[in-house]
Amino acid sequence: MITLDDINKSYILHNRSIPAIRSINLTVKPGEIFGVIGKSGAGKSTLIRCVNLLETPDSGRVLVDGKDLMRLDPTSLRAARRKIGMIFQHFNLLSSRTVYHNVALPLELAGHSKQSITNTIMPLLELTELLDKKNAYPSQLSGGQKQRVAIARALASQPTILLSDEATSALDPETTLSILQLLKNIRDTLNLTILLITHEMNVVKTICDRVALLEKGTLIETNTVGEFFIRPQTSTAKNFIASAVLQHLPDAIQRHLLKLPETNAHPVLRLWFRQGTATQPIISMLSLQFNVHVNILQANIEYVQNQVMGIMIIVVKGFDASIQSAIEYLKEHYVDAEVLGYAPDNIAV
Ligand SMILES: Nc1ncnc2c1ncn2[C@@H]1O[C@H](COP(=O)(O)OP(=O)(O)O)[C@@H](O)[C@H]1O
Ligand SMILES: [Mg+2]
Repeated sequence: MITLDDINKSYILHNRSIPAIRSINLTVKPGEIFGVIGKSGAGKSTLIRCVNLLETPDSGRVLVDGKDLMRLDPTSLRAARRKIGMIFQHFNLLSSRTVYHNVALPLELAGHSKQSITNTIMPLLELTELLDKKNAYPSQLSGGQKQRVAIARALASQPTILLSDEATSALDPETTLSILQLLKNIRDTLNLTILLITHEMNVVKTICDRVALLEKGTLIETNTVGEFFIRPQTSTAKNFIASAVLQHLPDAIQRHLLKLPETNAHPVLRLWFRQGTATQPIISMLSLQFNVHVNILQANIEYVQNQVMGIMIIVVKGFDASIQSAIEYLKEHYVDAEVLGYAPDNIAV
């Protein structure tokens, strides 16, 4: 269990104090996979590094498994930190050591006997499917295999908590999926608590139970992943979800979109279907009832934590009054309509 209680952290740069995270309150329950998502520079790494005191918060409390880390003496802090494993985007393996000896390192440093190290490590190499690679050097491994070594090493001290700082960001989509499945498997078999940070919504969608959105150092939304997907509150959240659920508009259209309405320009709408509307014939009703033409540019239906959610991007053509009535109709039917811009007549939509 992790509790961050009103954590603040600023960096000093050229004699100026720059806040990186502000008033962070967060609880990660035992056995939970909790994701913090945010853009680059939002403060994600700072936040996660505060959990094992790689960064010391300026104020607030860090509670891990009931211990107030900032109040521990150095010996107790070292012991508490051994129960917090961490993995990184760039693996941080020692190139001169084999897989086995990379994984063994934390136990060697803690003075364990060779036999007890072997007893601890062999099951971890099996769990991470690295038995046949135990004598290989990092340079002989793929990115996914390197990350599995880093995961096995993080588990060597038998932690209760695993922190992951963008662990899949350097990997291709297929390898990302296999690493995420491994993390989930580890949570299930070892009953670990996992806090991960990422800028990729797909990571959150694939393995997280709950998610918090970090923007400019502040947590602006915290929810179960299913609720976050179907009821995003902020435009940042909506954009993250859209990025996971459908590609952004084709460049050719995006480039020509006008910000304000003009004659001979048609609204481009992003529709969010929820509360069962994802499976109703709402678009054909629009055309029939309001005499508007609807071009579908993109559409996707997603199933996240048993919730159904659809996103669609459409262009609506017709008289202004008809379009307004059509948008009202959508709202009445629990379909959120956001205007992304206006597409001029002369581009092909
Ligand atoms: N060691 C540091 N010294 C000064 N500024 C830093 C340092 N580390 C991070 N920052 C700044 O703090 C903010 C948050 O950074 P970071 O936590 O790395 O964000 P993220 O991981 O979301 O990209 C950024 O503005 C970054 O430039
Ligand atoms: Mg970072």
